[in-house]
Amino acid sequence: MISNKASVFVPLYNKSFVVDGFPYFVPKEERDYNVDYAKRMVEDKWIYYRWREDIERGGWKRNEAQATRIAAHGGLILEICAGPGAGFAPAVLMKDYNAHICLSDLCPTVLCEWKNLFDNMENPPPNVEFAALDVCDLPFSDNSLDVVSGSAAIINIEGNRDKALKEIHRVLKPGGLFAFDLIFVTKDYADTLPKEALKTIKSRFPTAFWDTLATFDTLGFSQIETVQQSEWSNKDDESTLADLCRSLGFSLTFSGQMRYCIK
Ligand SMILES: C[S@@+](CC[C@H](N)C(=O)[O-])C[C@H]1O[C@@H](n2cnc3c(N)ncnc32)[C@H](O)[C@@H]1O
Repeated sequence: MISNKASVFVPLYNKSFVVDGFPYFVPKEERDYNVDYAKRMVEDKWIYYRWREDIERGGWKRNEAQATRIAAHGGLILEICAGPGAGFAPAVLMKDYNAHICLSDLCPTVLCEWKNLFDNMENPPPNVEFAALDVCDLPFSDNSLDVVSGSAAIINIEGNRDKALKEIHRVLKPGGLFAFDLIFVTKDYADTLPKEALKTIKSRFPTAFWDTLATFDTLGFSQIETVQQSEWSNKDDESTLADLCRSLGFSLTFSGQMRYCIK
């Protein structure tokens, strides 16, 4: 493990990197537009509170079904776009505290915060490591990871998402699992909306309608299982998208799905 702690496994990285507590494949400095967000994360102890909510108050159970499958697959799990909640990782750790997880993100601060939390715990999960990386340019060899997982991840990728999906497929071993959730407005639902208004929304918020299945068809996963999750309406949401929808006289219903893809 590449970390300040003496430990044991062979790094799989195939690109050069800087180590400062953990490997950095992207600049160590926070990106300009992310500085305020990162500052608030630290000052308001987001990571500490998210972990407490998930572990001490049982919030992890919302991801129990997904975590059961991810933990059962086992091996090295790369959690992408880990963010302040660490995606599926807390729930996976509740299923298997020894799980081997690499928390990754483009944002160095969020990883430093996770590392600080675990470094200061009495009984930290023993096999968690960290890597600052860009999911559009993964620093792993072909066919090297057992699992890539991400919650509210791919919808939030900055950069070329199709490239990120290709990278995820590339680094997974044959038989490896890509497990992720996403929400989007289905074509069936979009077809019920007024055409001109829909065009306006799509031009400004194309990702709201972004179903990954078309991309997946070309990637070569041998199995793709989709599990329908709850629907969500932006009727009362406070966002620029919701404001635009209200000004056009309707709301959008998003379909939540979990996908398990085997390479
Ligand atoms: C809203 S969070 C996702 C939610 C998160 N999984 C959680 O459980 O809290 C989005 C995260 O994706 C990260 N991110 C965005 N683009 C990325 C990229 N190209 N590579 C890696 N991480 C990225 C951001 O830095 C941010 O931390």
